[in-house]
Amino acid sequence: SSNGDTRHFRESSPLQIFVKAKKKINDIFLEINDYVQDSVKYVESIQDYQVLIDSNEVQKIVEYVYKIKGIRDVLARDHMKVAFFGRTSSGKSTVINAMLRDKILPSGIGHTTNCFLQVEGSDNGETYLITEDSAERKNVKSVSRLAHALCEEKLNESQLVRIFWPRDKCSLLRDDVVLVDSPGVDITPNLDEWIDKHCLDADVFVLVAHAQSTLMVTEKNFFHKVSLKLSKPNIFVLNNHWDTSASEPEYIDKARVQHTERAVDFLVKELKVCSQKEAAERVFFISAKECLSARCKEQQGLSIQSGALAEGFPGRYFEFQSFERKFEECISKSAVKTKFEQHSQRGKTVAQDIRLTMDTLYEKSQKLKNDKTEEKKNVYEKLNYTEQRLLILTQQMKEKIQQMVSETEEKVKKALSE
Ligand code: GTP
Ligand code: MG
Repeated sequence: SSNGDTRHFRESSPLQIFVKAKKKINDIFLEINDYVQDSVKYVESIQDYQVLIDSNEVQKIVEYVYKIKGIRDVLARDHMKVAFFGRTSSGKSTVINAMLRDKILPSGIGHTTNCFLQVEGSDNGETYLITEDSAERKNVKSVSRLAHALCEEKLNESQLVRIFWPRDKCSLLRDDVVLVDSPGVDITPNLDEWIDKHCLDADVFVLVAHAQSTLMVTEKNFFHKVSLKLSKPNIFVLNNHWDTSASEPEYIDKARVQHTERAVDFLVKELKVCSQKEAAERVFFISAKECLSARCKEQQGLSIQSGALAEGFPGRYFEFQSFERKFEECISKSAVKTKFEQHSQRGKTVAQDIRLTMDTLYEKSQKLKNDKTEEKKNVYEKLNYTEQRLLILTQQMKEKIQQMVSETEEKVKKALSE
């Protein structure tokens, strides 16, 4: 059944590296949260013993609760982000639609996309828009309404419209991938603003080029700017409209060699963002239009090969799938590294800070215990208890930190080596 196939595909999807790592790090932060709560209870229970702890220190521990909550909130929102750029009409919106397996974004001849469109999963199965200037959810009933709603908005080209689309309609959205469509890089004088606003947190960039011509200065210039602001951005080059080359079989091999060479040189020699070997796996020859139409047929239960197709369709379709596979590997690894490494570092810092406070407490209580004045005698009973709690807490904490650190590091290492 097609359902079984989808499931098989999903389980073997490289996106699961990110999905699993996210679940793991969320679980770890849940544990850190429990641990911080325990610590708060404990310091509050002894806060009357000002010889042991003063109110500033208690306050500091209490504040970690909010810090951890902040990190957990960010973690819950963390996703993988891919941004598409290229000249007007190169097929950016069509590529995204093909990946989403539906005609979601408006596409067409001439200058179509007039601002940044970010497609992300909605949890409640609804479709709606959010524009930058208001928090209002604008409901959209159908795809044609969506296109209409986007035209109605008087938008500045750097603005962002977020499109929420039901997660269960697409595996990319289900696995927390967010796709960003952009207007043509040739229509704006504001490339720097675009980069600052939309690119700094992107895990992967896709340059959608028109295979009928060669890479142009406008496209190249944009990525030069991107790689100045980001260290070694992950860039894929899609030579789109490749179906149109089918009518010129005498040139096709030569054109492919030439485009490949230029794209690889661009990534390796000009941008210096990857090695020759890596670059060879980043350049693809596809037809987004054919692929989208095949997938729409598939949704209707028709054969993807039905209807009129240009020569060589199976090869191009296969190449599109290869692109998707490489893209998924790349984005999940990159996102695990850029998003989770930071969080695990901060989690470690919090745990270590609390540990330090606990160590100090422990030392102070030891000192007090050794101080055998009558006055302290009364406190003594309490301290025995205190000491035990501290030992247990410190031990638990050590184990938790250790576990958290090694698990996260292993996860990251594994993700990176896969
Ligand atoms: P802007 O939003 O205007 O910058 O354009 P875009 O890059 O988003 O291009 P869009 O996806 O709107 O596609 C432009 C036109 O090219 C549409 O008419 C598409 O149907 C067509 N198109 C896109 N990809 C292909 C392709 O691979 N082959 C062919 N033959 N046509 C394509
Ligand atoms: Mg477009």
